[in-house]
Amino acid sequence: MNIHSLWIGWLLAGSGVSMVAGEAAPSAGAAASSTARLVIRAGAGQEKISRHIYGHFAEHLGRCIYEGIWVGQESPIPNTRGIRNDVVAALKEIGIPVLRWPGGCFADEYHWKDGIGSRAGRPSMINTHWGGVVENNHFGTHEFLDLCGQLGCEPYICGNVGSGTVREMQEWVEYITFDGQSPMANLRRENGRDQPWKLTYFGVGNENWGCGGHMTPEYYADQYRRYATYVRNFGGNRISKIACGPSGGDYRWTEVLMQQAGRQMWGLALHYYCGSGRNSRSATWFDEADWFHQLRSALRIEELIVKHAEVMDRFDPQKRVALIVDEWGAWHAVEPGTNPGFLYQQNTLRDALVAGVTLNIFNQHCNRVKMANIAQTINVLQAMILTRGAEMIRTPTHHVFAMFRPHHDATLVPIELEAGEYRLGAEAIPAVSASASRDAQGRVHITLCHLNPNSPVTVSARFEGARVSRVRGQVLTAPSITSHNTFEQPDAVRPAAFDGARLAGDRLEVVLPPKSVVALELE
Ligand code: AHR
Repeated sequence: MNIHSLWIGWLLAGSGVSMVAGEAAPSAGAAASSTARLVIRAGAGQEKISRHIYGHFAEHLGRCIYEGIWVGQESPIPNTRGIRNDVVAALKEIGIPVLRWPGGCFADEYHWKDGIGSRAGRPSMINTHWGGVVENNHFGTHEFLDLCGQLGCEPYICGNVGSGTVREMQEWVEYITFDGQSPMANLRRENGRDQPWKLTYFGVGNENWGCGGHMTPEYYADQYRRYATYVRNFGGNRISKIACGPSGGDYRWTEVLMQQAGRQMWGLALHYYCGSGRNSRSATWFDEADWFHQLRSALRIEELIVKHAEVMDRFDPQKRVALIVDEWGAWHAVEPGTNPGFLYQQNTLRDALVAGVTLNIFNQHCNRVKMANIAQTINVLQAMILTRGAEMIRTPTHHVFAMFRPHHDATLVPIELEAGEYRLGAEAIPAVSASASRDAQGRVHITLCHLNPNSPVTVSARFEGARVSRVRGQVLTAPSITSHNTFEQPDAVRPAAFDGARLAGDRLEVVLPPKSVVALELE
Protein backbone atom coordinates (compact mmCIF):
# COMPACT_ATOMS: atom_id res chain seq x y z
CA MET A 1 0.00 0.00 0.00
CA ASN A 2 1.30 3.44 -0.86
CA ILE A 3 0.33 6.59 0.95
CA HIS A 4 0.98 9.26 -1.57
CA SER A 5 -0.11 12.60 -0.38
CA LEU A 6 -2.06 14.69 2.01
CA TRP A 7 -4.47 17.24 0.58
CA ILE A 8 -5.38 19.71 3.32
CA GLY A 9 -5.57 17.09 5.98
CA TRP A 10 -7.25 14.74 3.58
CA LEU A 11 -5.88 11.23 3.78
CA LEU A 12 -5.84 9.44 0.49
CA ALA A 13 -4.15 6.14 0.14
CA GLY A 14 -4.50 2.90 -1.68
CA SER A 15 -3.01 -0.05 -3.40
CA GLY A 16 -4.50 0.94 -6.73
CA VAL A 17 -4.60 4.70 -6.87
CA SER A 18 -2.19 7.49 -6.20
CA MET A 19 -3.68 10.85 -5.39
CA VAL A 20 -1.39 13.71 -6.30
CA ALA A 21 -1.90 17.17 -4.91
CA GLY A 22 -2.65 19.94 -7.37
CA GLU A 23 -0.01 22.53 -8.17
CA ALA A 24 -1.47 25.59 -6.51
CA ALA A 25 -1.98 25.75 -2.77
CA PRO A 26 -5.69 25.82 -2.08
CA SER A 27 -7.04 29.09 -0.77
CA ALA A 28 -10.35 29.85 0.88
CA GLY A 29 -13.00 30.88 -1.58
CA ALA A 30 -11.04 29.77 -4.68
CA ALA A 31 -13.09 28.64 -7.65
CA ALA A 32 -13.54 24.90 -8.09
CA SER A 33 -10.91 23.25 -10.23
CA SER A 34 -12.07 22.41 -13.76
CA THR A 35 -9.32 20.00 -14.75
CA ALA A 36 -8.09 16.68 -13.45
CA ARG A 37 -5.37 14.33 -14.67
CA LEU A 38 -5.36 10.59 -14.76
CA VAL A 39 -2.70 8.03 -15.65
CA ILE A 40 -4.07 4.53 -16.28
CA ARG A 41 -1.51 1.73 -16.05
CA ALA A 42 -3.73 -0.48 -18.12
CA GLY A 43 -1.33 -3.41 -18.44
CA ALA A 44 -0.36 -3.49 -14.76
CA GLY A 45 -2.04 -4.70 -11.57
CA GLN A 46 -2.58 -8.11 -10.00
CA GLU A 47 -5.15 -7.69 -7.25
CA LYS A 48 -8.61 -9.05 -7.90
CA ILE A 49 -11.61 -6.88 -7.01
CA SER A 50 -13.83 -9.43 -5.29
CA ARG A 51 -17.38 -9.27 -6.61
CA HIS A 52 -18.41 -9.55 -2.97
CA ILE A 53 -17.47 -5.89 -2.53
CA TYR A 54 -20.77 -5.37 -4.36
CA GLY A 55 -22.71 -7.32 -1.71
CA HIS A 56 -25.96 -6.43 0.04
CA PHE A 57 -27.64 -6.67 3.41
CA ALA A 58 -31.29 -7.46 4.19
CA GLU A 59 -32.54 -7.32 7.77
CA HIS A 60 -35.88 -8.02 9.37
CA LEU A 61 -36.40 -4.29 9.62
CA GLY A 62 -39.33 -2.20 8.41
CA ARG A 63 -40.42 -3.24 4.92
CA CYS A 64 -37.16 -4.81 3.78
CA ILE A 65 -38.06 -8.48 4.19
CA TYR A 66 -41.85 -8.22 4.50
CA GLU A 67 -43.31 -6.53 1.42
CA GLY A 68 -39.85 -5.82 -0.03
CA ILE A 69 -38.93 -9.46 -0.57
CA TRP A 70 -41.54 -11.70 1.00
CA VAL A 71 -45.20 -11.31 0.04
CA GLY A 72 -46.30 -14.91 0.54
CA GLN A 73 -47.55 -17.39 -2.00
CA GLU A 74 -51.15 -16.17 -1.78
CA SER A 75 -50.24 -12.58 -2.67
CA PRO A 76 -51.61 -10.98 -5.87
CA ILE A 77 -48.08 -9.59 -6.33
CA PRO A 78 -46.35 -12.00 -8.74
CA ASN A 79 -44.04 -14.22 -6.74
CA THR A 80 -42.12 -17.47 -6.74
CA ARG A 81 -42.77 -19.47 -3.57
CA GLY A 82 -43.68 -16.19 -1.81
CA ILE A 83 -40.69 -14.13 -3.04
CA ARG A 84 -41.41 -11.12 -5.28
CA ASN A 85 -40.49 -11.69 -8.93
CA ASP A 86 -40.00 -8.00 -9.77
CA VAL A 87 -37.53 -7.51 -6.93
CA VAL A 88 -35.56 -10.64 -7.81
CA ALA A 89 -35.34 -9.48 -11.44
CA ALA A 90 -34.18 -5.98 -10.44
CA LEU A 91 -31.53 -7.36 -8.09
CA LYS A 92 -30.30 -9.74 -10.78
CA GLU A 93 -29.68 -6.69 -13.00
CA ILE A 94 -26.93 -5.63 -10.61
CA GLY A 95 -25.50 -9.14 -10.28
CA ILE A 96 -26.00 -9.30 -6.51
CA PRO A 97 -23.14 -11.58 -5.42
CA VAL A 98 -23.78 -12.09 -1.70
CA LEU A 99 -26.61 -11.28 0.69
CA ARG A 100 -26.27 -10.83 4.46
CA TRP A 101 -29.22 -11.82 6.65
CA PRO A 102 -31.14 -11.74 9.12
CA GLY A 103 -29.49 -8.66 10.71
CA GLY A 104 -28.09 -6.34 11.94
CA CYS A 105 -29.31 -5.88 15.47
CA PHE A 106 -32.13 -8.29 14.70
CA ALA A 107 -29.60 -11.14 14.35
CA ASP A 108 -28.71 -11.09 18.03
CA GLU A 109 -32.30 -11.66 19.10
CA TYR A 110 -33.24 -14.06 16.31
CA HIS A 111 -33.81 -17.71 17.16
CA TRP A 112 -33.67 -19.64 13.93
CA LYS A 113 -35.80 -22.58 15.06
CA ASP A 114 -38.75 -20.18 15.27
CA GLY A 115 -38.44 -19.70 11.50
CA ILE A 116 -38.67 -23.27 10.19
CA GLY A 117 -41.49 -25.75 9.67
CA SER A 118 -45.08 -25.01 8.77
CA ARG A 119 -45.57 -21.26 8.65
CA ALA A 120 -48.86 -21.47 10.46
CA GLY A 121 -47.11 -23.12 13.39
CA ARG A 122 -44.20 -20.69 13.70
CA PRO A 123 -44.18 -18.62 16.89
CA SER A 124 -44.19 -14.84 16.72
CA MET A 125 -41.73 -12.52 18.44
CA ILE A 126 -41.40 -8.80 19.04
CA ASN A 127 -38.88 -7.03 16.86
CA THR A 128 -37.68 -4.85 19.72
CA HIS A 129 -35.04 -2.94 17.76
CA TRP A 130 -37.18 -1.98 14.82
CA GLY A 131 -40.49 -0.43 15.70
CA GLY A 132 -41.57 -3.02 18.26
CA VAL A 133 -43.65 -4.76 15.61
CA VAL A 134 -44.64 -8.41 15.77
CA GLU A 135 -42.48 -10.66 13.59
CA ASN A 136 -44.33 -13.76 12.45
CA ASN A 137 -41.23 -15.65 11.34
CA HIS A 138 -42.76 -16.48 7.96
CA PHE A 139 -39.47 -15.64 6.31
CA GLY A 140 -36.88 -17.99 7.81
CA THR A 141 -33.95 -20.16 6.85
CA HIS A 142 -35.63 -22.02 3.94
CA GLU A 143 -37.08 -18.83 2.50
CA PHE A 144 -33.75 -16.98 2.74
CA LEU A 145 -31.82 -19.76 1.08
CA ASP A 146 -34.52 -20.02 -1.60
CA LEU A 147 -34.09 -16.27 -2.19
CA CYS A 148 -30.32 -16.70 -2.56
CA GLY A 149 -30.96 -19.53 -5.03
CA GLN A 150 -33.33 -17.36 -7.07
CA LEU A 151 -30.80 -14.51 -7.06
CA GLY A 152 -27.84 -16.80 -7.77
CA CYS A 153 -25.93 -15.24 -4.86
CA GLU A 154 -23.95 -16.55 -1.90
CA PRO A 155 -25.68 -16.55 1.49
CA TYR A 156 -24.06 -14.74 4.39
CA ILE A 157 -25.86 -15.61 7.62
CA CYS A 158 -25.25 -13.70 10.82
CA GLY A 159 -25.62 -15.80 13.98
CA ASN A 160 -26.86 -14.84 17.43
CA VAL A 161 -24.18 -14.28 20.06
CA GLY A 162 -25.97 -11.62 22.10
CA SER A 163 -28.96 -13.71 23.23
CA GLY A 164 -28.36 -17.11 21.66
CA THR A 165 -26.42 -20.16 22.75
CA VAL A 166 -23.40 -21.89 21.28
CA ARG A 167 -25.56 -24.96 20.76
CA GLU A 168 -28.16 -22.95 18.84
CA MET A 169 -25.49 -21.61 16.50
CA GLN A 170 -23.90 -25.03 16.10
CA GLU A 171 -27.24 -26.63 15.24
CA TRP A 172 -28.12 -23.93 12.68
CA VAL A 173 -24.96 -24.70 10.72
CA GLU A 174 -25.64 -28.44 11.02
CA TYR A 175 -29.24 -27.93 9.87
CA ILE A 176 -28.15 -26.04 6.78
CA THR A 177 -25.03 -27.92 5.72
CA PHE A 178 -24.88 -31.50 7.06
CA ASP A 179 -25.50 -34.10 4.38
CA GLY A 180 -25.61 -37.24 6.55
CA GLN A 181 -28.06 -38.52 9.13
CA SER A 182 -28.17 -36.25 12.17
CA PRO A 183 -30.88 -34.68 14.33
CA MET A 184 -30.67 -31.35 12.54
CA ALA A 185 -30.21 -32.73 9.00
CA ASN A 186 -33.20 -34.98 9.56
CA LEU A 187 -35.25 -32.03 10.86
CA ARG A 188 -34.36 -30.19 7.66
CA ARG A 189 -35.61 -33.16 5.65
CA GLU A 190 -38.85 -33.23 7.63
CA ASN A 191 -39.25 -29.58 6.61
CA GLY A 192 -38.98 -30.45 2.95
CA ARG A 193 -35.31 -30.03 2.07
CA ASP A 194 -33.36 -33.20 1.45
CA GLN A 195 -30.02 -31.86 0.22
CA PRO A 196 -27.89 -29.54 2.36
CA TRP A 197 -27.35 -26.00 1.15
CA LYS A 198 -23.98 -24.45 0.50
CA LEU A 199 -23.25 -21.88 3.20
CA THR A 200 -20.21 -19.76 2.48
CA TYR A 201 -20.17 -16.96 5.02
CA PHE A 202 -21.19 -16.98 8.67
CA GLY A 203 -21.02 -13.98 10.98
CA VAL A 204 -20.47 -14.67 14.67
CA GLY A 205 -22.65 -11.90 16.09
CA ASN A 206 -23.38 -8.34 14.99
CA GLU A 207 -22.27 -5.09 16.60
CA ASN A 208 -21.46 -6.90 19.82
CA TRP A 209 -19.99 -3.63 21.10
CA GLY A 210 -23.57 -2.25 20.96
CA CYS A 211 -26.94 -3.83 20.19
CA GLY A 212 -25.34 -7.29 20.12
CA GLY A 213 -24.58 -7.34 23.84
CA HIS A 214 -22.57 -4.20 24.74
CA MET A 215 -19.40 -6.23 25.15
CA THR A 216 -15.83 -5.10 25.59
CA PRO A 217 -13.46 -6.20 22.82
CA GLU A 218 -11.69 -8.55 25.24
CA TYR A 219 -14.95 -10.24 26.25
CA TYR A 220 -16.19 -10.48 22.67
CA ALA A 221 -12.86 -11.90 21.47
CA ASP A 222 -13.29 -14.75 23.98
CA GLN A 223 -16.91 -15.23 22.97
CA TYR A 224 -15.98 -15.16 19.29
CA ARG A 225 -13.41 -17.94 19.71
CA ARG A 226 -15.87 -20.00 21.73
CA TYR A 227 -18.82 -19.68 19.33
CA ALA A 228 -16.69 -19.92 16.19
CA THR A 229 -15.24 -23.23 17.37
CA TYR A 230 -18.62 -24.85 16.86
CA VAL A 231 -19.30 -23.33 13.45
CA ARG A 232 -18.26 -26.55 11.68
CA ASN A 233 -17.39 -27.46 8.14
CA PHE A 234 -19.54 -30.46 7.23
CA GLY A 235 -18.92 -32.54 4.11
CA GLY A 236 -17.51 -30.35 1.37
CA ASN A 237 -18.96 -27.14 2.77
CA ARG A 238 -16.36 -24.57 3.83
CA ILE A 239 -17.46 -21.64 5.95
CA SER A 240 -15.63 -18.33 6.05
CA LYS A 241 -16.17 -17.05 9.60
CA ILE A 242 -16.62 -13.35 10.14
CA ALA A 243 -16.06 -11.63 13.47
CA CYS A 244 -17.83 -8.49 14.61
CA GLY A 245 -15.47 -5.66 13.84
CA PRO A 246 -15.24 -2.05 14.92
CA SER A 247 -17.65 0.81 14.68
CA GLY A 248 -16.12 3.60 12.64
CA GLY A 249 -12.77 4.65 14.08
CA ASP A 250 -12.58 2.26 17.05
CA TYR A 251 -9.04 1.04 16.32
CA ARG A 252 -8.67 -0.55 19.74
CA TRP A 253 -11.47 -2.99 18.91
CA THR A 254 -9.59 -4.04 15.78
CA GLU A 255 -6.33 -4.39 17.71
CA VAL A 256 -7.81 -6.58 20.44
CA LEU A 257 -9.72 -8.77 17.98
CA MET A 258 -6.72 -9.25 15.71
CA GLN A 259 -4.46 -10.03 18.64
CA GLN A 260 -6.78 -12.40 20.46
CA ALA A 261 -8.84 -14.01 17.70
CA GLY A 262 -7.23 -13.12 14.38
CA ARG A 263 -6.13 -16.69 13.72
CA GLN A 264 -9.69 -17.99 14.06
CA MET A 265 -11.39 -15.63 11.61
CA TRP A 266 -11.67 -15.23 7.85
CA GLY A 267 -12.91 -11.67 8.10
CA LEU A 268 -13.41 -8.76 10.48
CA ALA A 269 -16.51 -6.65 9.84
CA LEU A 270 -16.32 -2.86 10.02
CA HIS A 271 -19.53 -0.81 10.08
CA TYR A 272 -19.62 2.77 8.84
CA TYR A 273 -22.62 4.93 8.03
CA CYS A 274 -22.31 8.46 6.74
CA GLY A 275 -25.08 10.67 8.01
CA SER A 276 -26.63 13.38 5.90
CA GLY A 277 -26.35 17.16 6.08
CA ARG A 278 -25.37 19.47 8.91
CA ASN A 279 -28.64 21.30 9.30
CA SER A 280 -31.01 18.95 7.60
CA ARG A 281 -31.01 15.19 7.91
CA SER A 282 -33.62 14.84 5.18
CA ALA A 283 -32.90 12.50 2.30
CA THR A 284 -34.42 14.87 -0.25
CA TRP A 285 -34.48 18.35 1.24
CA PHE A 286 -30.96 19.72 1.51
CA ASP A 287 -28.63 22.38 0.17
CA GLU A 288 -25.12 22.36 -1.26
CA ALA A 289 -23.54 22.55 2.21
CA ASP A 290 -25.38 19.34 3.12
CA TRP A 291 -24.33 17.75 -0.17
CA PHE A 292 -20.69 18.65 0.53
CA HIS A 293 -20.88 17.45 4.13
CA GLN A 294 -22.39 14.13 3.10
CA LEU A 295 -19.77 13.43 0.44
CA ARG A 296 -16.98 14.36 2.81
CA SER A 297 -18.41 11.89 5.34
CA ALA A 298 -18.61 9.22 2.65
CA LEU A 299 -14.99 9.81 1.64
CA ARG A 300 -13.93 9.31 5.27
CA ILE A 301 -14.29 5.59 4.80
CA GLU A 302 -10.93 5.59 3.06
CA GLU A 303 -9.22 6.90 6.18
CA LEU A 304 -10.98 4.20 8.25
CA ILE A 305 -9.94 1.43 5.87
CA VAL A 306 -6.34 2.64 5.78
CA LYS A 307 -6.05 2.91 9.56
CA HIS A 308 -7.84 -0.36 10.38
CA ALA A 309 -5.71 -2.08 7.72
CA GLU A 310 -2.57 -0.68 9.35
CA VAL A 311 -3.61 -2.28 12.65
CA MET A 312 -4.43 -5.54 10.86
CA ASP A 313 -1.07 -5.47 9.06
CA ARG A 314 0.73 -5.57 12.41
CA PHE A 315 -0.83 -8.93 13.21
CA ASP A 316 -1.44 -10.22 9.70
CA PRO A 317 1.12 -8.85 7.25
CA GLN A 318 0.16 -11.52 4.70
CA LYS A 319 -3.36 -10.04 4.59
CA ARG A 320 -4.99 -13.40 5.27
CA VAL A 321 -7.80 -11.82 7.29
CA ALA A 322 -10.23 -9.85 5.16
CA LEU A 323 -11.60 -6.48 6.15
CA ILE A 324 -15.34 -6.73 5.55
CA VAL A 325 -17.51 -3.63 5.49
CA ASP A 326 -20.77 -5.45 6.04
CA GLU A 327 -22.83 -2.35 6.80
CA TRP A 328 -22.26 0.94 5.01
CA GLY A 329 -24.17 3.72 3.32
CA ALA A 330 -26.03 6.96 3.91
CA TRP A 331 -28.36 7.15 6.90
CA HIS A 332 -30.92 9.96 6.55
CA ALA A 333 -34.05 10.93 8.45
CA VAL A 334 -37.00 8.68 7.67
CA GLU A 335 -39.54 9.88 5.13
CA PRO A 336 -42.15 12.10 6.81
CA GLY A 337 -45.14 10.17 8.08
CA THR A 338 -43.38 6.79 8.18
CA ASN A 339 -42.56 4.68 11.24
CA PRO A 340 -39.25 6.01 12.67
CA GLY A 341 -38.29 2.43 13.51
CA PHE A 342 -38.57 1.36 9.88
CA LEU A 343 -35.68 3.50 8.55
CA TYR A 344 -37.44 4.16 5.24
CA GLN A 345 -35.62 6.90 3.33
CA GLN A 346 -35.61 8.27 -0.19
CA ASN A 347 -32.53 8.10 -2.37
CA THR A 348 -31.26 11.01 -4.49
CA LEU A 349 -28.40 11.77 -6.81
CA ARG A 350 -26.43 12.52 -3.63
CA ASP A 351 -26.81 8.87 -2.60
CA ALA A 352 -25.62 7.81 -6.04
CA LEU A 353 -22.44 9.82 -5.49
CA VAL A 354 -22.04 8.33 -1.99
CA ALA A 355 -22.25 4.86 -3.54
CA GLY A 356 -19.88 5.71 -6.38
CA VAL A 357 -17.09 7.22 -4.28
CA THR A 358 -17.38 4.43 -1.69
CA LEU A 359 -17.22 1.65 -4.29
CA ASN A 360 -14.21 3.33 -5.92
CA ILE A 361 -12.50 3.33 -2.51
CA PHE A 362 -13.34 -0.33 -1.89
CA ASN A 363 -11.93 -1.22 -5.32
CA GLN A 364 -8.73 0.64 -4.58
CA HIS A 365 -8.30 -1.27 -1.32
CA CYS A 366 -9.28 -4.67 -2.65
CA ASN A 367 -6.07 -6.19 -1.31
CA ARG A 368 -7.67 -6.02 2.16
CA VAL A 369 -11.37 -5.33 1.55
CA LYS A 370 -12.87 -8.59 0.30
CA MET A 371 -16.54 -8.00 0.94
CA ALA A 372 -18.91 -5.11 1.58
CA ASN A 373 -22.66 -5.08 2.08
CA ILE A 374 -24.56 -1.87 1.57
CA ALA A 375 -27.42 -1.26 4.02
CA GLN A 376 -30.04 -2.21 3.05
CA THR A 377 -31.40 -3.85 -0.08
CA ILE A 378 -35.05 -2.73 -0.14
CA ASN A 379 -37.05 0.02 1.59
CA VAL A 380 -34.46 0.54 4.35
CA LEU A 381 -31.61 3.10 4.50
CA GLN A 382 -29.63 3.38 1.22
CA ALA A 383 -31.75 0.91 -0.69
CA MET A 384 -31.48 -0.39 -4.25
CA ILE A 385 -35.23 -0.67 -4.55
CA LEU A 386 -38.29 1.03 -3.07
CA THR A 387 -41.71 -0.59 -3.11
CA ARG A 388 -45.24 0.68 -2.56
CA GLY A 389 -47.51 -2.32 -2.46
CA ALA A 390 -47.23 -3.94 -5.88
CA GLU A 391 -45.20 -1.02 -7.31
CA MET A 392 -41.41 -1.01 -7.41
CA ILE A 393 -38.81 1.58 -8.39
CA ARG A 394 -35.04 1.46 -8.78
CA THR A 395 -33.08 4.10 -6.87
CA PRO A 396 -30.09 6.09 -8.18
CA THR A 397 -27.96 3.81 -5.99
CA HIS A 398 -29.24 0.77 -7.91
CA HIS A 399 -28.07 2.42 -11.13
CA VAL A 400 -24.59 2.98 -9.71
CA PHE A 401 -24.32 -0.69 -8.76
CA ALA A 402 -25.34 -1.61 -12.33
CA MET A 403 -22.75 0.77 -13.82
CA PHE A 404 -19.98 -0.62 -11.58
CA ARG A 405 -20.85 -4.25 -12.35
CA PRO A 406 -17.91 -4.75 -14.78
CA HIS A 407 -15.54 -4.41 -11.80
CA HIS A 408 -16.86 -7.68 -10.31
CA ASP A 409 -13.91 -10.10 -10.07
CA ALA A 410 -11.87 -7.95 -12.46
CA THR A 411 -8.21 -7.05 -11.88
CA LEU A 412 -7.58 -3.70 -10.24
CA VAL A 413 -5.72 -1.41 -12.64
CA PRO A 414 -3.40 1.04 -10.88
CA ILE A 415 -4.13 4.67 -11.61
CA GLU A 416 -2.64 8.00 -10.68
CA LEU A 417 -5.24 10.67 -10.16
CA GLU A 418 -4.68 14.38 -9.84
CA ALA A 419 -8.23 14.98 -8.70
CA GLY A 420 -8.48 18.74 -8.50
CA GLU A 421 -10.57 20.06 -5.68
CA TYR A 422 -14.16 20.90 -4.96
CA ARG A 423 -14.22 23.82 -2.58
CA LEU A 424 -17.06 25.12 -0.54
CA GLY A 425 -16.15 28.10 1.60
CA ALA A 426 -12.98 27.28 3.49
CA GLU A 427 -13.25 23.56 2.96
CA ALA A 428 -12.18 21.32 0.11
CA ILE A 429 -12.57 17.72 -0.94
CA PRO A 430 -11.29 16.01 -4.09
CA ALA A 431 -13.44 16.92 -7.08
CA VAL A 432 -13.06 13.55 -8.78
CA SER A 433 -12.97 9.98 -7.54
CA ALA A 434 -11.94 7.09 -9.77
CA SER A 435 -11.03 3.43 -9.99
CA ALA A 436 -10.20 1.14 -12.88
CA SER A 437 -10.10 -2.56 -13.61
CA ARG A 438 -9.32 -5.01 -16.40
CA ASP A 439 -11.81 -7.76 -17.15
CA ALA A 440 -11.14 -11.30 -18.37
CA GLN A 441 -11.39 -10.13 -22.00
CA GLY A 442 -8.75 -7.45 -21.43
CA ARG A 443 -11.17 -4.52 -21.56
CA VAL A 444 -10.47 -1.68 -19.14
CA HIS A 445 -13.31 -0.23 -17.08
CA ILE A 446 -13.03 3.16 -15.41
CA THR A 447 -15.59 4.57 -13.01
CA LEU A 448 -15.45 8.28 -12.29
CA CYS A 449 -17.45 10.40 -9.88
CA HIS A 450 -17.56 14.16 -10.16
CA LEU A 451 -18.52 15.65 -6.81
CA ASN A 452 -18.78 19.32 -7.78
CA PRO A 453 -22.42 20.16 -8.59
CA ASN A 454 -21.65 23.55 -10.16
CA SER A 455 -19.36 23.09 -13.17
CA PRO A 456 -18.01 20.35 -15.41
CA VAL A 457 -14.49 19.01 -15.11
CA THR A 458 -12.23 17.84 -17.90
CA VAL A 459 -10.22 14.74 -17.05
CA SER A 460 -7.11 14.38 -19.21
CA ALA A 461 -6.13 10.72 -19.14
CA ARG A 462 -3.11 8.87 -20.50
CA PHE A 463 -2.75 5.12 -20.94
CA GLU A 464 0.32 3.08 -20.21
CA GLY A 465 0.75 -0.54 -21.23
CA ALA A 466 -2.22 -0.90 -23.56
CA ARG A 467 -3.52 0.34 -26.89
CA VAL A 468 -7.04 1.59 -26.80
CA SER A 469 -9.12 2.09 -29.91
CA ARG A 470 -12.65 2.41 -28.63
CA VAL A 471 -14.39 4.02 -25.69
CA ARG A 472 -18.01 3.93 -24.71
CA GLY A 473 -19.79 4.72 -21.52
CA GLN A 474 -22.77 5.66 -19.43
CA VAL A 475 -23.47 8.69 -17.28
CA LEU A 476 -25.75 9.15 -14.30
CA THR A 477 -26.70 12.72 -13.49
CA ALA A 478 -29.84 14.79 -13.02
CA PRO A 479 -31.01 18.41 -13.02
CA SER A 480 -30.74 18.89 -9.25
CA ILE A 481 -28.64 17.58 -6.36
CA THR A 482 -31.92 16.46 -4.80
CA SER A 483 -33.29 14.68 -7.90
CA HIS A 484 -34.71 11.27 -7.11
CA ASN A 485 -37.07 8.65 -8.46
CA THR A 486 -40.64 8.42 -7.24
CA PHE A 487 -43.50 6.06 -7.98
CA GLU A 488 -44.92 8.81 -10.18
CA GLN A 489 -41.57 9.48 -11.92
CA PRO A 490 -39.59 6.24 -11.64
CA ASP A 491 -36.97 7.27 -14.22
CA ALA A 492 -36.20 10.83 -13.15
CA VAL A 493 -32.66 9.68 -12.40
CA ARG A 494 -31.36 6.97 -14.67
CA PRO A 495 -28.21 6.27 -16.69
CA ALA A 496 -27.84 7.57 -20.24
CA ALA A 497 -25.31 6.95 -22.99
CA PHE A 498 -22.22 9.08 -22.43
CA ASP A 499 -20.69 11.04 -25.29
CA GLY A 500 -18.18 13.11 -23.34
CA ALA A 501 -15.09 10.92 -23.93
CA ARG A 502 -12.63 11.44 -26.84
CA LEU A 503 -9.72 9.14 -27.70
CA ALA A 504 -6.55 10.27 -29.46
CA GLY A 505 -3.69 7.73 -29.45
CA ASP A 506 -2.76 7.00 -25.85
CA ARG A 507 -4.75 10.01 -24.66
CA LEU A 508 -8.31 10.18 -23.49
CA GLU A 509 -10.20 13.33 -22.65
CA VAL A 510 -13.34 13.01 -20.60
CA VAL A 511 -15.67 15.89 -19.80
CA LEU A 512 -17.56 14.94 -16.66
CA PRO A 513 -20.79 16.86 -16.14
CA PRO A 514 -21.33 18.45 -12.73
CA LYS A 515 -22.59 16.00 -10.03
CA SER A 516 -22.20 12.87 -12.11
CA VAL A 517 -21.13 9.25 -12.11
CA VAL A 518 -19.56 8.01 -15.35
CA ALA A 519 -18.59 4.44 -16.27
CA LEU A 520 -16.30 3.92 -19.28
CA GLU A 521 -15.37 0.75 -21.13
CA LEU A 522 -12.19 0.85 -23.20
CA GLU A 523 -11.12 -1.69 -25.81
O1 AHR B 1 -28.75 -1.27 9.37
C1 AHR B 1 -29.46 -0.84 10.49
C2 AHR B 1 -28.73 -1.15 11.79
O2 AHR B 1 -27.55 -0.43 11.84
C3 AHR B 1 -28.29 -2.58 11.96
O3 AHR B 1 -29.29 -3.40 12.43
C4 AHR B 1 -27.19 -2.46 12.96
O4 AHR B 1 -26.24 -3.47 12.84
C5 AHR B 1 -26.64 -1.08 12.69
O5 AHR B 1 -26.49 -0.34 13.85
